[in-house]
Amino acid sequence: RGAGQSAADLAGRHVVISAGGTREPLDPVRFLGNRSSGKQGYALARTAVARGARVTLVAANSELPDPAGADVVRVGTAVQMREAVLAAAADADAVIMAAAVADFRPERYAEGKIKKRDGREPEPVALVRNPDILAEISADRARPGQVVVGFAAETDEVLANGRAKLARKGCDLLVVNEVGERKTFGSEENEAVVLGADGSETTVPHGPKEALADTVWDLVAPRLS
Ligand code: CTP
Ligand code: CA
Repeated sequence: RGAGQSAADLAGRHVVISAGGTREPLDPVRFLGNRSSGKQGYALARTAVARGARVTLVAANSELPDPAGADVVRVGTAVQMREAVLAAAADADAVIMAAAVADFRPERYAEGKIKKRDGREPEPVALVRNPDILAEISADRARPGQVVVGFAAETDEVLANGRAKLARKGCDLLVVNEVGERKTFGSEENEAVVLGADGSETTVPHGPKEALADTVWDLVAPRLS
């Protein structure tokens, strides 16, 4: 591949990457979760190490092996992920939110396991909104010129939804993939369109998650201040 990768173009940079999927506990044995495997975020971490960066990987519920050379911070919930990402982002040159963050969490955590009661209907589960980490770090950059990247999984109107989401989040780049039953989640491969706040549009053909990761760094590197 191109010069970018071999040139250690991220040397001296600190990059923060979130990966995996948050789990929002309902009681000691149950949670609300999602199908994110963490593979794309881990690929971003490995490729950033290879390009010379200091890497902090904030990993939620992934069973993948720690990428060699990265600092790995393990979290469970969206609230914990927010704490860890904000702390690591304080001196970061770039932040990439590749994690699937649960939009909602149960309003109440039951200290004891929720039991069936004879003849009674189950209690509804009330949900509350989780903080939007990407929107927050985009709005309050810890450093001037910090580059912020989001991911979006869409099933319909992929590009239109992606453009609207990029504007809503206020990030610099948004990696948009189309998801479906067999696409993206847990898969070794990915295809995507990377939208830039400057109007740019970079199509990444179907291929290994490592290749998409390198393309993301190719787009981040020239935007670093
Ligand atoms: N994200 C985040 N905090 C949240 C939700 C999402 O930081 N509470 C980040 C994700 O890590 C991802 C990006 O925002 O980088 C887009 O996530 P997505 O779920 O596609 O966006 P939402 O704004 O939650 O929109 P939707 O209603 O389509 O789920
Ligand atoms: Ca969401």
